[in-house]
Amino acid sequence: MSDFKDNILQGRVALITGGATGIGKEISRTLGKHGAKIVITSRKQENLDAARQEFEKEGIECLALSSDVRNPEAVEQVIASAIEKYGSLNIVVNCAAGMFLAPIERISYNGFKTVVDIDLLGTYNVTKAAFTAYLKEHGGCIVNITAPFEHWGVSSMAHVAAAKAGVESLTRTCAVEWAPLGIRVNSVAPGFIAETEGVKRAGESMNIPDDKSLKGTRQDLANAVLFLVSDSASFISGVCIRADGSATIDLLRMPVV
Ligand code: NAP
Ligand code: COA
Repeated sequence: MSDFKDNILQGRVALITGGATGIGKEISRTLGKHGAKIVITSRKQENLDAARQEFEKEGIECLALSSDVRNPEAVEQVIASAIEKYGSLNIVVNCAAGMFLAPIERISYNGFKTVVDIDLLGTYNVTKAAFTAYLKEHGGCIVNITAPFEHWGVSSMAHVAAAKAGVESLTRTCAVEWAPLGIRVNSVAPGFIAETEGVKRAGESMNIPDDKSLKGTRQDLANAVLFLVSDSASFISGVCIRADGSATIDLLRMPVV
């Protein structure tokens, strides 16, 4: 749990893409534990149902609807269902993503496109659909989960690094265009987060140091998102919170691929 009061999101509705597993699941639980009604979406209905059952046992109201963020119509349908059931949509967290580690010569054209389609275009699809269906009229906030290597060259991550840099840029543009409408748009860039698919995949070829100060928890990430969607962050928009314990600005300790 966080140190925030448990009712700070009372009356709000939050959509979390990729909200049934890993970091997204912890974000969903944390926003739910602080009073929000939760809508989770990703491709696998079995994961969504399992997460929903867990959340409901913890007293969190949850709608779990399958969609592929690459499909704008499917995303629009999820958002329409969420608004129909809960009456509003105040918070959007774009956490769905995919990646695999490979040097450029082993990333096929379709492999590069697939990761950009999920991570960058998927974020755009969900953001645009939520804006059109609800946020444009009512305001709200969006948090995009990125990665802390926008300004780095990152071996074996050409596709995901390019896509996440695109999401950082999109975050800032949305923040600027939509500030007059009362919509805040920020990002959280996780470093190495223990017990996640991302670190499992990265760990297959990266030498991630076994140093606790360089490995965060899923709750650490969820708390950063909670802060950004709370009223305590009411004048914060267009920023990235890098939640990585300093790992990615430490040249001497960065793992070597
Ligand atoms: P994860 O559990 O695999 O989360 C990714 C989620 O995205 C899954 O729930 C997956 O669900 C969903 N997803 C994938 N493709 C999708 C699609 N086309 N449409 C809809 N949903 C889709 O991995 P994670 O490590 O927790 O990563 C969560 C986020 O943190 C990602 O944005 C990742 O880039 C970011 N991140 C993680 C780390 C880390 O240390 N783990 C570091 C930096 C950034 P389905 O399979 O059901 O679709
Ligand atoms: N190495 C090289 N290429 C790979 C690969 C790997 N490990 N995994 C997939 N690809 C390529 C495929 O060969 C295919 O390209 P091709 O048509 O030229 O052969 C392309 O990527 C798409 O693969 P496919 O399996 O059809 O994509 P998908 O849409 O079913 O899945 C992925 C998307 C590949 C990103 C998959 O790993 C995924 O669903 N990931 C979600 C979980 C995740 O990545 N979590 C960590 C979050 S950061």
